[in-house]
Amino acid sequence: MGSRAVRHPVFARLYARASHAMEAEVGPHRDRLLAGLSGAVLEVGAGNGLNFAHYPTGVTRVLAVEPEPYLRNLAREAAARAPCPVDVADGVAERLPADDGTFDAAVASLVLCSVHDPEAAMSELYRVVRPGGELRFYEHVRAESPRLRRVQRTLDATVWPRFTGGCHAHRDTVTAITRAGFSIDRLDGVRVPDTRISVPTSPHVIGSATHP
Ligand SMILES: C[S@@+](CC[C@H](N)C(=O)[O-])C[C@H]1O[C@@H](n2cnc3c(N)ncnc32)[C@H](O)[C@@H]1O
Repeated sequence: MGSRAVRHPVFARLYARASHAMEAEVGPHRDRLLAGLSGAVLEVGAGNGLNFAHYPTGVTRVLAVEPEPYLRNLAREAAARAPCPVDVADGVAERLPADDGTFDAAVASLVLCSVHDPEAAMSELYRVVRPGGELRFYEHVRAESPRLRRVQRTLDATVWPRFTGGCHAHRDTVTAITRAGFSIDRLDGVRVPDTRISVPTSPHVIGSATHP
């Protein structure tokens, strides 16, 4: 898909507000996502930069790629307050602005649901991580329950992507990660929000995978 523009002006403003309101619940997941990382990290679809405050001290630099202009500006503000050097760049997951094997790790959080071409995005993440490096992911995924899967499929085919910045509820992201060549080391299921009644994007995974 090349560098197809990502512009969601209404969703971007809503996400910027709602994401802060969710941080009491999501913040600890961001800590788990990033714990123990070190060296150079590429973060794809960084949004308004809410991960930046959670990078551990071993991380020496972050290249944060964000295509949506409103969110990218907010990410630049967040980068100025980050505990490690963060460069924020325009770009899309399907064509990352980075050379082969130049990162010790890549991070995808709440973004693989929204990319236009998941296969191309995964192949790019695989390309930029060095052999032996890792992919960390925190994503909402296809449900286990057939009933919720049906709801997710129906929403994806109708209104959901239009009102959520191109998000898809029914993506099988874990399979996409392994198909790209990564080998999963850790995979934990979590519900967000952690409520008794499910919303279409309740099932999440947090995990890590190695580029063999
Ligand atoms: C739900 S937000 C998540 C933001 C951030 N990663 C977080 O954890 O809060 C989804 C992000 O994916 C970005 N995005 C959408 N399509 C993309 C693409 N093709 N490549 C990279 N990022 C994309 C959006 O602009 C948005 O910032």
